This record gives sequence, C-alpha cells and structure tokens, in this order.
Amino acid sequence: MRIDVVSIFPEYLAPLELSLIGKARQDGLLSLQVHDLREFTTDRHRTVDDTPYGGGAGMVMKPEPWALALESVTETSTTSDSAALPTLIVPSPAGEVFNQKLAYELAEEEHLVFACGRYEGIDERVLEWSEEHFRVRPVSLGDYVLNGGEVAVLAMVEAVGRLLPGVIGNPDSLVEESHSDGLLEYPVYTKPSSWRERDIPAVLLSGNHAKIARFRRDEQLRRTSERRPDLIDRLEIGALNKADLETLHSLGVDKDQ
Ligand code: ADE
Repeated sequence: MRIDVVSIFPEYLAPLELSLIGKARQDGLLSLQVHDLREFTTDRHRTVDDTPYGGGAGMVMKPEPWALALESVTETSTTSDSAALPTLIVPSPAGEVFNQKLAYELAEEEHLVFACGRYEGIDERVLEWSEEHFRVRPVSLGDYVLNGGEVAVLAMVEAVGRLLPGVIGNPDSLVEESHSDGLLEYPVYTKPSSWRERDIPAVLLSGNHAKIARFRRDEQLRRTSERRPDLIDRLEIGALNKADLETLHSLGVDKDQ
C-alpha cells in the first residue's frame, strides 16, 4: 500500500517511523510519504490560510497550495487498475465516523492520501475539485474537536496499517480483538495466577477449551452490554447462538427474535 500525508506540520507524523508501522515501512509492506503543504505555496511568506468569506472567527486554508500538493501526489500515483482513483481522506469532525469496518475497507486500497486541515478547515472548493482525481471521504475520529487532522491521521494510519498482510506477526491476534465480531474483547490475564490476593478466573486453568471459549464469549457479552449497549443493539441476531441469547437474557438484555 502507498500512503501520502499532506500537512503543515510534517514533524507531527514522526511517530509513524516507530513500532509496527515503522517496521512495515522498512520491510517495504507500506510506502508512506509525508509532504509539507508550505512547499506548494508560491509567495514569499509561504501563506496557507486567509480570512473566511462571509466573516466569522478563525482562518481558512487557501485552495491553491492544496491543489498543487494533491496534483503532485496524483502525478506519481500508480494504481494498477487505471480506472481506480486513489482515496482522499480528509480528517474532519464533520466527516463519517471512523471505525474498524472502515479500517478494513481502507486496508484494501492501493493508494490512500490524507489531507490534514488546520484552522477552521480547507476551502470547500478543494473537496469539490478533488472529486475529479480521488474518491473523497471526509472522516471523523469521533464526536469531539481536535486542532487539526494530524492526530486523526496517526490513529487511522495505525488502524489501517496493522491490517495489511505481514504487518502483524500472528494474524490470529486480529481475529479475537475488540470490534472484530461487533463485541468488545474479553479480559486477559498472565502469570502469576495469584497476584496481590487476586486470583484469575479458575476456568482459565481448567484446560477445558470449550468452557474457556464460553467464559470468554460471556465476558465479551457482559462487557459490551455494560460499556457499549449501542453495539449490542446493532448485533445481527444471526451472529448470536442460543447460549449467547441466554447470557444476554441473564444480563437483562433481550434481543428481538
Ligand atoms: N479534525 C478536527 N477534529 C477532528 C476529528 N474529530 N476527527 C478527525 N479530524 C479532525
């Protein structure tokens, strides 16, 4: 996969050189380049913002540096299917909310471009113009406001990058993690089995794999109904077996049959 990030603070993206994503880049599984938007300005002051038409607080990012930066990125785009456009992700609190399903979807793409806005945002005409060159997706990390798109890009690139083939040593770890089956993950424990007078659940020492699987599934259902009842509401009834429904019933949740 190829990823390009355009930002006025390229240093903000330095953590993408570390850990699993940094290793994926070194191993050639992920080609990631960060571009400084100011390199695409043409005035002496390298201006990227101006006052908003119609008045109001703050500044708006000027369109031309964005067009030049995005053009320079598409000029070298080599998607194997010539009809396929790269995807342009515009982090914004006004976008669709990022989740694991979107991470899996983006992990299938050949070329992702992230446009980090700052101030009050990017001139809207840039997004309209970009539709000719990209599949444009404004994406929000959640219902809160950050100072710019960079932190959102760190989160999204990590969530997508770890799904690329070969990035995580044991791909089994992707199967049982939170959100992979619409539920939160079960609690985990390691040695010692007794620590500061707290014992791990005895079933985990039983060697009975079916019982352990049932215990873990029940813990997933319990945690999810306590912490994220919205996820329980969204579960497909077909994803639940009889034992799951019984557990949910004991938790006071009755899914419609
Ligand atoms: N930029 C500012 N706030 C944001 C958010 N919540 N998600 C993504 N990008 C943002």
